[in-house]
Amino acid sequence: MTVRIAPSILSADFTILGQQIAAAERGGADLIHVDVMDGHFVPNLSIGVPVVRSIRKVATVPLDVHLMIEEPDRYLEAFVDAGAAIVTVHLEVLPHLHRTLQAIKELGAKAGVALNPSTPASLLEDVAGMVDQVLVMSVNPGFGGQTFIPRSESKIQAVRALLDRQGNAAPIEVDGGIDSSNAARLVEAGATILVAGTSIFGTGDPERAVRDLRAAATAKAGV
Ligand code: DX5
Ligand code: ZN
Repeated sequence: MTVRIAPSILSADFTILGQQIAAAERGGADLIHVDVMDGHFVPNLSIGVPVVRSIRKVATVPLDVHLMIEEPDRYLEAFVDAGAAIVTVHLEVLPHLHRTLQAIKELGAKAGVALNPSTPASLLEDVAGMVDQVLVMSVNPGFGGQTFIPRSESKIQAVRALLDRQGNAAPIEVDGGIDSSNAARLVEAGATILVAGTSIFGTGDPERAVRDLRAAATAKAGV
């Protein structure tokens, strides 16, 4: 099984963002995960479209944009134009999620759906046939450096089963509190994209941290 590592730049040193991304890519990063926060859906503010546009110029891997914002429909086109290859929206803010996913696809990007820790996997049921990716939040969104919520493991299993029932091989991404200690278990549960901020950019050596995380993720759990 191929595991993809998606370093989250939320924990990067923004004064040398290009260098940090290059280091993560040398270590084998498969995607660059960009966390967009609006101070409403989550208590924190982070970055937006102009930063995505700048990163697009230096990154050689696809940009995985995670929108933690209340009205994502207003910004989909701007993020795709700026270079987002994957746009992930939160189910909790979208009464017309089906329409939003269609809009992302029509713009030419992959459409992801994110679930908060308190959101049941079953709410995905009616869009499970059309999602390109599901993001299981393993911390409450808004901040880097939080502690992994263990129940996320069974959430990943439930999402995998739900997607499989509908014949959708879309990957599951897990985001929050991921490091070498829990990576293998998450892969075993069915996640194939691991987002990590602190355990990659919080170290002095992002290149090595990406390699270490991949090694841990692909080691057989419990061995
Ligand atoms: C949290 C973000 C995450 C965050 C993960 O709201 O969605 O992508 O950067 O950071 P760590 O790996 O530090 O938990
Ligand atoms: Zn994220």
